[in-house]
Amino acid sequence: MSIDIGGMRKPYLDQSATFDTTDLVAQEPWGQFQAWFDQAKACSAIEEANAMCLATASKSGVPSARMVLLKAFGPEGFVFYTNYESRKAKDLSENPQAALTFYWEPLKRSIRVEGSVAKVSEATSTEYFRTRPLGSQIGAAVSHQSRVIAGRQELENREAQLKAEFGDGSKVLDKPEAWGGFLVTPVSMEFWQGQSTRLHDRIRFRRPAPDEKPDPSITHIGTDGWVYERLAP
Ligand SMILES: Cc1cc2nc3c(=O)[nH]c(=O)nc-3n(C[C@H](O)[C@H](O)[C@H](O)COP(=O)(O)O)c2cc1C
Repeated sequence: MSIDIGGMRKPYLDQSATFDTTDLVAQEPWGQFQAWFDQAKACSAIEEANAMCLATASKSGVPSARMVLLKAFGPEGFVFYTNYESRKAKDLSENPQAALTFYWEPLKRSIRVEGSVAKVSEATSTEYFRTRPLGSQIGAAVSHQSRVIAGRQELENREAQLKAEFGDGSKVLDKPEAWGGFLVTPVSMEFWQGQSTRLHDRIRFRRPAPDEKPDPSITHIGTDGWVYERLAP
């Protein structure tokens, strides 16, 4: 029998100002992302402002989603690191498209991103790997991510071996070949601000189609080749 949670809803506190296209900090999405990300980072109720849900799909269109951590962002896109033999990496090798969703509950904000995906350079992955704490480096080296394993023990044995070998810092643990970054280059970025009235704000930036003539009564021309518009909640 299913458990009915249909009545599970909390009133949103009336703390968010209406967010209009005229309130944007920039006419392109990166300035807006930076402003919201900085506020999420500064919010003590948010543990990991850089946690985001990454959705991929296989060649045959089967979707899968999981959380990853954002490690860099800028006009070229969003970077996360993972194992290149994992399910997400297999999906991305067959179908290099992804969607990302951030949700910052205390701020009642969400950002949705869609775009194409490519691996970052081996040099960038190596450089980033070297900055990780040894425990994280060992974790990446130990785990053949997303493979079926017999039990925890094999992970712990391998971790203990690597700790014994590299724990005193006299030797450098090289980046595993199958570990590295992906760059998601957005074609759309949507900023969602929850409102107590449930008439939530949604402002979407997107790359227009090459032959598109945006309707100026609803779609605004931004900078750097972006257009932006309001979506119904
Ligand atoms: C908050 C959070 C952050 C995570 N960050 C990462 C990450 O940056 N990279 C990663 O490979 N997995 C990360 N994981 C684990 C993934 O969600 C997932 O279990 C793993 O990557 C395997 O996914 P896949 O089988 O779909 O490839 C994170 C999990 C959580 C809950």
